[in-house]
Amino acid sequence: MNNGTDKSWPPHVGIVALEIYFPSQYVDQTELEEFDGVSGGKYTIGLGQSKMGFCSDREDINSLCLTVVKNLMEKHNIGYEKIGRIEVGTETILDKSKSVKSVLMQLFEASGNTDIEGVDTTNACYGGTAALFNSLSWVESSAWDGRYALVVAGDIAVYASGAARPTGGAGAVAMLVGPNAPLVIERGLRASHSAHVYDFYKPDLESEFPRVDGKLSIQCYLSSLDKCYKRFSEKAKAKNSETISLESFDGILFHSPYCKLVQKSLARLLLNDAISLPEADVKSKYSDLESIRSVKLEDTYFDRDVETKVVSSSKKIFEGKTKPSLHLANQVGNMYTPSVYGGLVSYLASKTEAQLVDNRVCVFSYGSGLQASMYSIRICKANGQLTKLLGGISDVNSRLDSRKKIQPALFEKTMTLRQEVHHKAPYVPVEPVADFFPGTYYLESVDDMHRRKYTRKMK
Ligand code: ACO
Repeated sequence: MNNGTDKSWPPHVGIVALEIYFPSQYVDQTELEEFDGVSGGKYTIGLGQSKMGFCSDREDINSLCLTVVKNLMEKHNIGYEKIGRIEVGTETILDKSKSVKSVLMQLFEASGNTDIEGVDTTNACYGGTAALFNSLSWVESSAWDGRYALVVAGDIAVYASGAARPTGGAGAVAMLVGPNAPLVIERGLRASHSAHVYDFYKPDLESEFPRVDGKLSIQCYLSSLDKCYKRFSEKAKAKNSETISLESFDGILFHSPYCKLVQKSLARLLLNDAISLPEADVKSKYSDLESIRSVKLEDTYFDRDVETKVVSSSKKIFEGKTKPSLHLANQVGNMYTPSVYGGLVSYLASKTEAQLVDNRVCVFSYGSGLQASMYSIRICKANGQLTKLLGGISDVNSRLDSRKKIQPALFEKTMTLRQEVHHKAPYVPVEPVADFFPGTYYLESVDDMHRRKYTRKMK
């Protein structure tokens, strides 16, 4: 391994292993439609959501991250001394000073490894991508000492009751970053867009709920997608003389606030292609889109005619390249920072190793406020590492299926309890832990100094 003194960059830097955690309980979106008194199909068809994972008073951002890191380290048998950096991306803020990263250090105590860089990063759903980029930079820097970086993205996504509530969710992803990885992040090929907007933000530090301007947040998401795709295409042209289009990728993954927006986003990339590709290409490949080549992207965020046309034209591409990445998003909901990485897990879990090798995957990450990026991943065998990576996530679908369904009335009661006890100290949680997955950390108590203590459920 490069010990950091070599001037050349380490090869194939990317994701070596990954793990996902989501709560063992969910509310069914059809039952929630009925309970909320909205028209049947609004959440399931209109938003494209089937189930929503949620946490009781037993879980918080620290416990989610403890669980996912411990499970990753155990599954892949990684020694704690092998980690040199930890980056946590989250917008679930329990403490304005003490980082989640520092809480994770309790897992490292027995190893004696305290020489670990990195802290937490926050910008809505984007923090996990910032954490990933920071970790890739560390591995490619003069400060790298040959050890792995650990990227953790976790959130509890809860909204006040109303239109946004069915777009909640919860979960955490941990990713081991290093050289010679099976999921290689393409070097020198990233595009970002950042701007100052109040589309979704959390100014009330006493509450878990965001302030959200739903329509503005959708417009910001779609306009960021347009900008990132254009810049990514320009960079690919400059770097490799490559013309980017939907055909450039085997998989196209998005941050998923709700699945319907992702389908519209894939369609929007087709609209971008129809506008930017040479006329002859559009004529031969997408003749039905010739009539909308002259539209201005910024006039079309809520243009129903254009949307219907591109959604219909891109249906096959969506089903092949994007839908497989939406299983966790559909079954758990928006997990905020881990959402797009849940997309990566779903995509990987939907195919065999042979189908995945040599795939090129496009990733779009969005965080309100706003910050967005597009980058790409090349999948390779990496000397057996891909087999190990896939083995680690092979239980995802059985875990999803073994969750417990909770009635909407009890879900509402749990949301109210979380609201009442958020930041309460001292506090001893009251909800049961019997149905937690084995290996789940949960909150045991909060003392009168707001210090939190966690226990792990073993069986
Ligand atoms: N059957 C089928 N579809 C239906 C039905 C029904 N019975 N009823 C409504 N719908 C459709 C609507 O036509 C609409 O479709 P469209 O999006 O194609 O127009 C869709 O369901 C949603 O219904 P609306 O009434 O338009 O929207 P609503 O007031 O329910 O709010 C919103 C939806 C804005 C997404 C809300 O849930 C929200 O604010 N969520 C949080 C913000 C968010 O996720 N933003 C995205 C990016 S930022 C982020 O990641 C947090």
